[in-house]
Amino acid sequence: MIDYYRPVAVECLLVGQFPPIALYLRRGHRNFILYKPDDVELTEKDLQRFSSNNVEFVYVRAGDAEIVANFLEDQIRQIFERDDVTSETKELILSVVTFNYLSEVFKTPERIEDVKRCKKLLKALMKNIVSKECLMQALAKVLDGNYQIFAHSIDVTILSMLAHESILNLASDEVLEVGVGAMFHDVGIIYLTSNSLDGPYPCTDIDYSRVKLHPQMGYNLLLTLWGEKYQVALDIVRYHHEKFNGTGYPFGLGGESTPRSAQIVSICDVYSSLTTERPFRKASSPRHSLEIMESEANIFNKEYLQAFKAMILEGGRIS
Ligand SMILES: [Fe+2]
Ligand SMILES: [Fe+2]
Repeated sequence: MIDYYRPVAVECLLVGQFPPIALYLRRGHRNFILYKPDDVELTEKDLQRFSSNNVEFVYVRAGDAEIVANFLEDQIRQIFERDDVTSETKELILSVVTFNYLSEVFKTPERIEDVKRCKKLLKALMKNIVSKECLMQALAKVLDGNYQIFAHSIDVTILSMLAHESILNLASDEVLEVGVGAMFHDVGIIYLTSNSLDGPYPCTDIDYSRVKLHPQMGYNLLLTLWGEKYQVALDIVRYHHEKFNGTGYPFGLGGESTPRSAQIVSICDVYSSLTTERPFRKASSPRHSLEIMESEANIFNKEYLQAFKAMILEGGRIS
């Protein structure tokens, strides 16, 4: 029953624009009640009601999830196509779209405190991106690739910012730079014609040799847009496929020669890949994904992998 409904962050419910679909509320673990049918319009009053009752997510039927995804995709594309969109609106839309991925990352959106913390981090990150032309240009490049890359990038961004907070105890401006690096870690994929965005498990040798170019391609592009600033972010982009045992790419760096932020983002990247459905394989559950990663533990920094596992398990993100 629970798979029949998909969560939608209430911030996505833009009055007058959100598609006319039925909305449900969750009561208890597995009960969903109809809040409004398809043909009843959403109003500001509904949003006030959600806010005063601390409702973070509403639910749509699984069959309507694609309508919501298309709506959000349209919203984000408009940001880059329209000149009359103010930076406040850009910030709002970008935050709203990224909030919608929170329920995916958390699997169950019951950890209100985690969700609130994440929203704060994402909001600050989006404010930072919108305020800097060179970051907006990089974001446009990510969206140029395809929407899946954008969705994957948000997933990795949320996980990476949380992981840096809990593993390295970083200050908020440092966490933001990690967010910038994670958001653009796969921007080099736009140079690849095949669609082999599958972390360390690509499908053919030909794809693999092409995929291996994307960290350096992404780094070169961002260096052109940014210059030397955002060094931590640039390191993340360039080194996120290095492995702890030295078998990664592009340089085959091992151990601590890989910057620590890139080591942590690589863990988040693989976890995101494994927990996401791809055209040629199903998504693994969070628990199974962690088991797979532990069985190949020598490719990760052991200490960071254990801390990441604890963050996922103790954060209640396993359903
Ligand atoms: Fe990558
Ligand atoms: Fe990635």
